[in-house]
Amino acid sequence: MTSKQGKILVISDIHGNAEGLKAVLKSESDYDFLVFLGDSVLSGPQPKETAEILLDVQPDINIMGNHDEILLDHVLIDKWPEDWRAYNRWAFKQIPSEIIETTKTYSFSGKYEIGGVNFFLHHGQLNRSIPAAIPYADASSFEAIDPGNDSELVLFGHNHIQFTHELNGKTYINPGSVGQPRCGRTHACYAVFEDGKYIPRQVSYDQRPWISALDKIDELKQYPKFVSWLKEGFLSGYGIGKREPWTRFHAEGYF
Ligand SMILES: [Fe+2]
Repeated sequence: MTSKQGKILVISDIHGNAEGLKAVLKSESDYDFLVFLGDSVLSGPQPKETAEILLDVQPDINIMGNHDEILLDHVLIDKWPEDWRAYNRWAFKQIPSEIIETTKTYSFSGKYEIGGVNFFLHHGQLNRSIPAAIPYADASSFEAIDPGNDSELVLFGHNHIQFTHELNGKTYINPGSVGQPRCGRTHACYAVFEDGKYIPRQVSYDQRPWISALDKIDELKQYPKFVSWLKEGFLSGYGIGKREPWTRFHAEGYF
């Protein structure tokens, strides 16, 4: 049996927030393995800076997120509201072509051994007919993440909440979101495994560069309400609005 060695840093859902990503990498600069669970540069005002950092650190494993798929196929946002499409179109023009090439190599879900630990990795996006795998969700939501998998540790992102869920002898772990938290806290969330032991972590950072980057986007000047909504979500930590179930999760202490 392989021994569990080293420090694994797990990040997910960066969403074009270079400040959050820099804070995490600075706090955990002694990691041995870097695992990224998807959603890299889109839906945030620092896509170029975020791409440059990811190209520099080159995670050992990259899992394809739904926003990464958009990078490779712009048609996927054709039915989105016009303000969101303008935000994405602007981002497409900012990012270096290398991040597109790298994104093409991202993996879909599967089993991986990292530092002697067996994981099942998945971005966390499920078929639309299945409720999201968040705290209090039915077993079927979690079972849909890893059908047929026998690894005891299942890592996934997508829902931007840091939590664990025990089911069928397995531990489902969401490290939370680096760049777009939803539970009313403004930290960058992530996880580490030290010699096989799971540790959820959060780090705070200066939010001002993110705000000033957003203010500089000329393509969004015609959507002031959208920009205000983005700012309010970012500054409050309620990334997609202050509402249920996120206010409940905030009250219960989730990040
Ligand atoms: Fe995401």
